[in-house]
Amino acid sequence: MTKQTWFDAFFDAVTSSKELKNIVEKDWAWDFKKNLTDMEKEIKKASEITSSFKDTFSTPEAIEAWKNYTPSNKPYINKTADEQDEKPNPINIKYFENKNPKTFGFAWVAWMDELKENLRENFIKPLKFKFLVEKLEKEKWETSEKEAMYKQIHEAYKKFNVSIPTGMLFYGPPGTGKTFITKKLAQELWAGLIKKSVWEFGSSYIHATSKNIRDFFTQAKEASEKWPIILFLDEIDSLVSKRWQNVDWNKAEEVSQFLQEFNALDEAPNLIVIAATNRPDHLDSAILRSGRLDKKIYLWPPDFQARKELFQIFIEKENKPHQKLDYDKLAKLTDWYVAADLEAISDEVSRDASQSILDLANNIDSLDPKTLKEKLKNSVITMELLEKAISETTPSTKFVDMSIFDEWIEEDKKEQKNIRV
Ligand SMILES: Nc1ncnc2c1ncn2[C@@H]1O[C@H](COP(=O)(O)OP(=O)(O)OP(=O)(O)O)[C@@H](O)[C@H]1O
Ligand SMILES: [Mg+2]
Repeated sequence: MTKQTWFDAFFDAVTSSKELKNIVEKDWAWDFKKNLTDMEKEIKKASEITSSFKDTFSTPEAIEAWKNYTPSNKPYINKTADEQDEKPNPINIKYFENKNPKTFGFAWVAWMDELKENLRENFIKPLKFKFLVEKLEKEKWETSEKEAMYKQIHEAYKKFNVSIPTGMLFYGPPGTGKTFITKKLAQELWAGLIKKSVWEFGSSYIHATSKNIRDFFTQAKEASEKWPIILFLDEIDSLVSKRWQNVDWNKAEEVSQFLQEFNALDEAPNLIVIAATNRPDHLDSAILRSGRLDKKIYLWPPDFQARKELFQIFIEKENKPHQKLDYDKLAKLTDWYVAADLEAISDEVSRDASQSILDLANNIDSLDPKTLKEKLKNSVITMELLEKAISETTPSTKFVDMSIFDEWIEEDKKEQKNIRV
């Protein structure tokens, strides 16, 4: 019997024998429940206890429990990852439909021109062409003139042997658009999108996290055989950095599992991994060195022009009723505000303006149609509302140590792989 199996038997014995449970709880002065939970994480400690139990306690019930012990009636707490009953991490793929060309894909992305161009050149153009070629190859290159021409283009392109990156890292302060741009890229590519925060892989089961990660990638790869997939791994920094400082072996195991998965991405050419973090300095350097997230893209808080465009997107392009707005002034007032802050400000003023409409409904008896029309005309987003909302909002970069990024970029510059947007 393995140590773990002794522990299983011990657990069975304790739960099936009242007497034994009493002994354990009283004589060992042992907080039964608490220690069992701890033991999940500390299997080593558990195995010591169980071997001592084997030698010391041999009540008839315990002996009976051992005899009857079969893996199928093991208590859950002791199950290893391979024995979990429930199916972990079903993948959730979002496919997009272009219901509104105005908001679909990059059309709705303010500023970020350099980034959009970069993504177009590195991903969108080559991938779209690759998908087209794959489709034509499947159809055995039917010989229309157009297809013959595509074939020639493909032959010419192939000679340059340019690889398409299969992974990249988006980093930058919260609210700068890491999640957003990933979604927009998926739309541009018509790819399916799987979003997953890395900490979600965690499990209280022994070694289950690695298994969850493995299963998840297997499913994502399978799905990408049918249709291209972007896999967005958010908060990748939760794979705590610097394994050698890490006493938590489960964590080290997780990092290794991710490395294995990243290294095996060649098998899935239609799976693009985008990892995101706002703590690049916490990243395990092995993950970065894996050669999979070697394209690193910094999402910086929006500059003056960008903030103007963002306000325009959130108010004008969304067709919210508004006064003539001084976008220069708004941008000037919002230095260091990130896109998410500007979006929140725009939501706030929309709420304010719409409140005055609701107030009209509440006071309908005191209104006549002509005054109502007049008042409705005035219930719009105004500069005054915007300035008030801005003054009441603190830019989220205030809560972030921005030097993290400068220092990390400086360190990373040596590799000459940064793209700044
Ligand atoms: N370039 C942009 N154009 C239009 N809207 C944008 C742009 N960038 C960001 N936004 C808006 O800002 C909001 C916040 O962006 P997002 O959630 O992607 O930030 P994030 O970098 O992922 O933040 P976190 O690190 O907190 O996850 C989004 O809801 C999106 O609507
Ligand atoms: Mg995000």
